[in-house]
Amino acid sequence: MIKKFVLAFLAFTQAILAAQDPQGKLLQVVETFRHGARYRIYNSSYPNNNQINYGELTAEGQRMHYVLGVTLQQNYAQSLNFPDKYDHTFIYAKSTNVNRTIMSAYSQLAGMFPLNKGIDVENINTQFMVPPFTKIADIGQQKYALAGGQQPIPIHVKEQKDEKQLLGYGDACNNSPKWSQKNKDDSDWNRIKGEFQPLIDKLANNKFFQLPANPDLDTIAQLVDTLIAIKWAGDDAQNTLIAAQIEGFLLPLDEMMNPNNFNVMWVQMNLLYSIQLHLALFKTEQQKKTSVTPFFNELLAYFNNYLSAKDTQNPFFKWIMLSAHDTTIAMVAQGLNLTSWQCMEQVKNQTFASNPSSPCIYTYPGFASNIIFELYEDNNKKPYVKALYNGTAQPLCGTADTFCYLDQFTQSISYSIVSDFDKECDNPIYVSSPDSSSTPTWAIVVIVIVSVLFVGALGYIFFQRKKILSLQSIDKNSNYSQI
Ligand SMILES: *[C@@H]1O[C@H](CO)[C@@H](O)[C@H](O)[C@H]1NC(C)=O
Ligand SMILES: *[C@@H]1O[C@H](CO)[C@@H](O)[C@H](O)[C@H]1NC(C)=O
Ligand SMILES: *[C@@H]1O[C@H](CO)[C@@H](O)[C@H](O)[C@H]1NC(C)=O
Ligand SMILES: *[C@@H]1O[C@H](CO)[C@@H](O)[C@H](O)[C@H]1NC(C)=O
Ligand SMILES: *[C@@H]1O[C@H](CO)[C@@H](O)[C@H](O)[C@H]1NC(C)=O
Repeated sequence: MIKKFVLAFLAFTQAILAAQDPQGKLLQVVETFRHGARYRIYNSSYPNNNQINYGELTAEGQRMHYVLGVTLQQNYAQSLNFPDKYDHTFIYAKSTNVNRTIMSAYSQLAGMFPLNKGIDVENINTQFMVPPFTKIADIGQQKYALAGGQQPIPIHVKEQKDEKQLLGYGDACNNSPKWSQKNKDDSDWNRIKGEFQPLIDKLANNKFFQLPANPDLDTIAQLVDTLIAIKWAGDDAQNTLIAAQIEGFLLPLDEMMNPNNFNVMWVQMNLLYSIQLHLALFKTEQQKKTSVTPFFNELLAYFNNYLSAKDTQNPFFKWIMLSAHDTTIAMVAQGLNLTSWQCMEQVKNQTFASNPSSPCIYTYPGFASNIIFELYEDNNKKPYVKALYNGTAQPLCGTADTFCYLDQFTQSISYSIVSDFDKECDNPIYVSSPDSSSTPTWAIVVIVIVSVLFVGALGYIFFQRKKILSLQSIDKNSNYSQI
């Protein structure tokens, strides 16, 4: 069976190489990525040491995105006229409201828009560059507005519950925790746990990991997450210690994806980690479609905004940067039919028969994983789309081709777009005022004053009217048409 799996894998790779590309003109890029390496986020497993900077981006994580930024700027300098001096009409950058994603975006932007390229102030009169303050610092003569020619670039952030585009599977979907809980109680979850039981037992019986008795898929996934965080922190002594417990712990990425290493313990642990993510967040058709709906709607809007403004005075952004999470990458990948828990279960059983038009990405979206959408137009000005995962073009629209015409692409992803995201998610209707949940004190004071005046006025009118009415009743025959 392993042979079948290997052959299918090879056929898939070859078909990708064989696919034809219209070789058109690149118009726009929409990029989404996971933050770089971070400190661990779970305490539930593995020795509780080095508990510092919980969840924050590490130096390695900053470097990963910096290098990706330099790489992308170079790769797209020609084809997209990617400037190395920041231009607000060129790029729009957005991040989820989490330190590590915001910092990853900054790190990548630092690679794209490097030092010594910022705007200079050489011809500006000094008096126009001083802030109003006492005893202002002397920074000496500086060519650039900022020391070293740094380039500050805006990164847009929304509150998590409003970040539907990037967090449609979680914070922005009220039903999400309920759906995940339901998945964990069903038979598929238990069957798949059973398929991994020998691995789970092996880990549970090893005192090194300090796992609770009878760990669930979640507990093992958290252990893998923690071990990856530790591995990427690059402490050789620590990594050697772990590698003595886990076969393949230090395998490089390409070896992890080599089918010959499929049964290596660390590869199996990563597979469990990937399946667990999908089983929790992208299990049912409702979860799969609902979660990716806002992302796909925005994606089509970017493409269409670009195309409709292409020849006007106000062109739309050529580059959209979206800084997010492993779960965001998994969400988009499943929306493109590049992966699913179903195909991963078959991979686990080694019964997955791959063909060029239906791949199965079963490796976890590790640090700085990225999906890049490219919008092109062919020689007849017909727009088409490509999607790159970690830089490799993926088959699209149910074909083996690594490109898809925009009309067909729109049609294909419409399968995954629900008509009302908020309704599916049972989201509360947010009022657009800054804070609708608490009323500020001044408003209460105003309301009380107005109420008192109103009641007073009402009382006065009532009193006057009563007086008049009593006069009326006294003098029935008089003409009171003036009242
Ligand atoms: C884990 O432990 C650290 C330090 O003890 C603490 O700051 C952090 O909040 C804990 N995280 C969780 C998820 O309990
Ligand atoms: C994120 O950064 C803020 C300061 O900007 C800090 O207070 C906070 O602890 C950091 N971590 C998290 C998880 O919010
Ligand atoms: C995978 O194999 C297990 C037996 O180990 C079986 O129960 C399960 O149905 C198989 N799943 C698929 C999707 O083939
Ligand atoms: C993408 O890169 C990440 C980080 O190295 C890795 O974990 C993941 O397996 C890669 N995925 C693919 C499909 O290349
Ligand atoms: C994914 O597969 C379904 C059929 O199962 C298809 O209708 C849909 O268009 C596909 N999505 C993409 C983006 O190709």
